[in-house]
Order: sequence, then structure tokens, then C-alpha cells
Amino acid sequence: MTLGMIILGRQGSGKGTQAVRIAERFGIIHISTGDMLRAAVEEGTELGLKAKSIMDAGELVTDDVINGIVEERLKKEDVLHSGFLLDGYPRTVGQATELKKLAAENLKLAINLEVSIEEVTQRMLSRGRQDDTPEAIARRLELYEAETSPLIEWFDKENILCVINGSGTENEVYERVISEIEKSI
Ligand code: AP5
Repeated sequence: MTLGMIILGRQGSGKGTQAVRIAERFGIIHISTGDMLRAAVEEGTELGLKAKSIMDAGELVTDDVINGIVEERLKKEDVLHSGFLLDGYPRTVGQATELKKLAAENLKLAINLEVSIEEVTQRMLSRGRQDDTPEAIARRLELYEAETSPLIEWFDKENILCVINGSGTENEVYERVISEIEKSI
């Protein structure tokens, strides 16, 4: 059995930043749905064409589409062999339910990075990605509260939730995360 983890948290809480380092440390595959969608936009695929306006507006791509992309990725040889760290997925109860069907036996930990709305907003405004406009940030954070924050309780009930303070320097957060993962796996 391989190691499977997910990383949750508000937009801008540092999921992507930490996920790259955690995946390297544990030799597992980092799967970011946001990166996959941005690559599709860049390549101009059918998915990319559909996803671009949704992402720019800060809306969520539909569960069906995202579940299909993740299911395909989880079946690839590298993931089957090394395990995975999902970043940006799941972010609705529908996606979490699907993930449970796809990978329940490998899913060991759901890390939730806690950072305030004020701090994540500041981080995203200083980054300036295409979807980091004040309007899209506000919409993404609104959707996080409505659609994604219920997953904290959802994973708590699954007994795999681990809450980490995501404020402080990247290294401080990384040390906190690693120490919690090592206690839990
Ligand atoms: P996605 O790419 O996942 O974007 P997001 O959810 O908005 O998350 P971010 O990438 O902004 O935040 P992050 O937590 O990864 O933080 P990061 O490490 O980058 O998704 C984009 C879009 O794709 C969505 O809006 C949606 O449309 C669609 N999508 C994706 N997945 C989907 C799904 N499952 N279902 C439906 N739609 C989906 O850090 C942010 C900034 O802060 C960086 O500049 C970083 O350098 C900085 N930083 C990080 N850590 C620290 C620190 N400790 N101190 C100071 N600065 C820090």
C-alpha cells in the first residue's frame, strides 16, 4: 500500500508551496488540480478553453470534470508506485466522496493549513497570478467558506485530519507540517 495525503486550506494559505517540499521529502507525487488546469489552458486543450473563464472569475470547475481528471491521474504508474499528495482537491463534499471511492485505503492524512482571510488576501495580491484580481480573490474565498470549509469536519470524522498553523515563514510552517506528518504516518 502506498502513502496518500491531501492538503487543504484557503486560497493563498501555502498549499502549493508546502506541497512541493512535502512530496519531495516523502518521495510521493504532488498532484495540483490548479496546476493541471493551468497547463491545459496553456496548451489550449478543450478542457483548458472551458476552464479559463471559470478560473479567471474565481469559480469552481464542475465536480464531474475535476473528478475525471483526478481519477485518470491516480491511475498513472508513478502514482500507483510512489503514492500521492493532492493539492487543491477535494474542495467540495462531492469531490471528497469521490476521492474516498477512488483511494480510501491509501488516504492517511488530510493536512489543513490555517491562515486568516486578511493574510491570504495580502499574499495573493502580492503574487499577482492571472486569477489574483480583487474580485476573483473575493469570490474564491467566498466559495471556500461555502463549499470547501465543510471538508474540515468531513475529514475530522474520517479521523485523518491534522490542523497546522500556516502563519509564519515558509520554513517554520514546513517544520510544523513535517513534525505532524511524522507523528501520524
Ligand atoms: P489553485 O491553483 O488550486 O488555486 P487556489 O485554490 O486559489 O490556491 P492558491 O494557489 O492561490 O493557494 P495555495 O494555498 O496553493 O498557496 P501558494 O502556495 O500558492 O486553483 C485555481 C483555480 O482552479 C480555482 O479557483 C478553480 O477555478 C480551479 N480548480 C482547481 N482545483 C479545483 C477543484 N478541485 N475543483 C474545482 N475547481 C478547481 O501561496 C500563495 C502565495 O503566498 C505565494 O505567492 C507564496 O509564495 C506565498 N506564501 C506561501 N507560504 C507563505 C508564507 N508562509 N509566508 C508568506 N508568504 C507565503
